[in-house]
Parts: sequence; C-alpha cells; structure tokens
Amino acid sequence: MRPSELIKFKQAGRAITILTAWDSLSAALVEASGADAVLVGDSLAMVALGHATTLPVTPKQMLHHTQAVMRGFRGEPSQQPLIICDLPFLSYQCGEEQAMAVAGELLKESSAAAVKLEGAEPEIIAVIDRLVRMGIPVMGHLGLTPQAVHHLGYKRQAEDQRSQDRIFEQAIALETSGCFALVLEHIPSELASKIRRRLAIPVIGIGAGDDCDGQVRVTADLLGLTPRQPPFSPALLQGRELFSSALGQWVRDQNSPPTTATPPPEPGC
Ligand code: KIV
Repeated sequence: MRPSELIKFKQAGRAITILTAWDSLSAALVEASGADAVLVGDSLAMVALGHATTLPVTPKQMLHHTQAVMRGFRGEPSQQPLIICDLPFLSYQCGEEQAMAVAGELLKESSAAAVKLEGAEPEIIAVIDRLVRMGIPVMGHLGLTPQAVHHLGYKRQAEDQRSQDRIFEQAIALETSGCFALVLEHIPSELASKIRRRLAIPVIGIGAGDDCDGQVRVTADLLGLTPRQPPFSPALLQGRELFSSALGQWVRDQNSPPTTATPPPEPGC
C-alpha cells in the first residue's frame, strides 16, 4: 500500500489502524493483527533499548530495527502493512541536506515507504517540503512531541486557546507542505476533531479522542509490557505479569524434584 492511499480510507470513512513494531517478533504480531501500517517509532529507544527518552536513538539504529521489522513480515509483499519509520532526534532538525540523506538511506536500505517527523516550525516545514518534492512521503506529528520532552514534558498539550490556535495553524501548514497524514498526540479531543474536519489528509490520534480518522498505539503499551503506562493508552492485557509469571513457573519447575524417579539400569545390561 502506498502512503497516499490512506487518504482514500479517510474519504471512505474507514478507520485507519497503525501499531508500532521494533523487531521481527513484534512486526509479525502487528502484521497478524491486520493493522494498516506499522510505525517503527523512535519510542523503540525506550521500548527496546532501555533509554529514558527517545532522544538517544540514532539513524543507524532506526535502520537496523526497520530492517528487523521488514524481515518479520510473512505475507506477500503486496499484502504487507505499510512501514513508516520515525526520523530520530537531530536527523532532520539540522537542515534539509541531512534530512534527505537520513530519510533516503532508510527508504533505500529497508522496505519503509515513508518517514514521520515531529513539529511544524518554519525550518521543519522547509525540510518536509524538500523531502516530499524529492519523492519521500512524510507523516507529520503535533501535540505531545516526545523529541521536545525537555521543553514540553510528557503532559497533555494545547490546554489554552493560544496553543490550540497554534496547533490548528501548524496542522494546516503540514498538509500544505505535502504530508500524507498527521499524528496528533495527547491533545484535547475537541481540537483533534476540529483539525480532522478541516484537513483532507488523515488525522491519526493517540490520546486525542475518538473523532480521528485513525488511531496509532505503541504496541508494547497495548500489551502491558512497558514499565510506565501512558494515561491515554491503557493496556489490553497485563503482559509483564503474564510473561514473567510463566517464565518464573518454568524456572521453578526446573528446580523441583522429579515426581517419578527413573529406575537404575539392570546390572549387566
Ligand atoms: O515513536 C512512536 O512510537 C510514536 C507514536 C507514539 C506515535 O511516535
């Protein structure tokens, strides 16, 4: 599926589903779920690499994980979910040339067909404009943008009218610059709904209410595997407890005495 095809889903009123993956196992699970797209999010810095924020992950690591994700798919290539890969911190904020090189390598060396980047400051709009003109599909991301954690924190964004107006204008700017879709994270649902109605491109929410064209979730959060559960993404099951108790049981079983002792071999045999 090409990224631009998601617009047809919006036009048809069909909800878009996107889940993150970070390795072959998680990719296989997401593919089997039937989600439309896989996001190799820079949240893998926390989910897979144990960092406290998304900032340390590098372009090389993002490529490594995207290649693992693509190797996890089992279906016919034409049936596989679309892969969107996050451009990590400092891979696009320093200018168009570097952004082109990093995004280009991700698309060349993996089967990712699009990149996602955060923000809509004039410098970022210039980068998006360049990527899109050079044939690289871009997904935008506004609201809680984790690469700006030291500025915004992890709290809900756009609580006052001024910042709501700003995000609304930025969303329009992202569509104008050629983004094929927009992620809105942890903002009031009324604002997400207003943006969804204003834009032609799909608005994909996470912590932005139900009135979006689709939803994206961090798979590890849904599976209850992450140590800190975001308030806007409740777990579907208690994965950590489930898996650790199964493994603990296996370890205890190895140390418990066998129920039936094996008889000693017959002498002379
Ligand atoms: O990195 C990520 O997983 C993301 C989602 C939260 C949208 O950007």
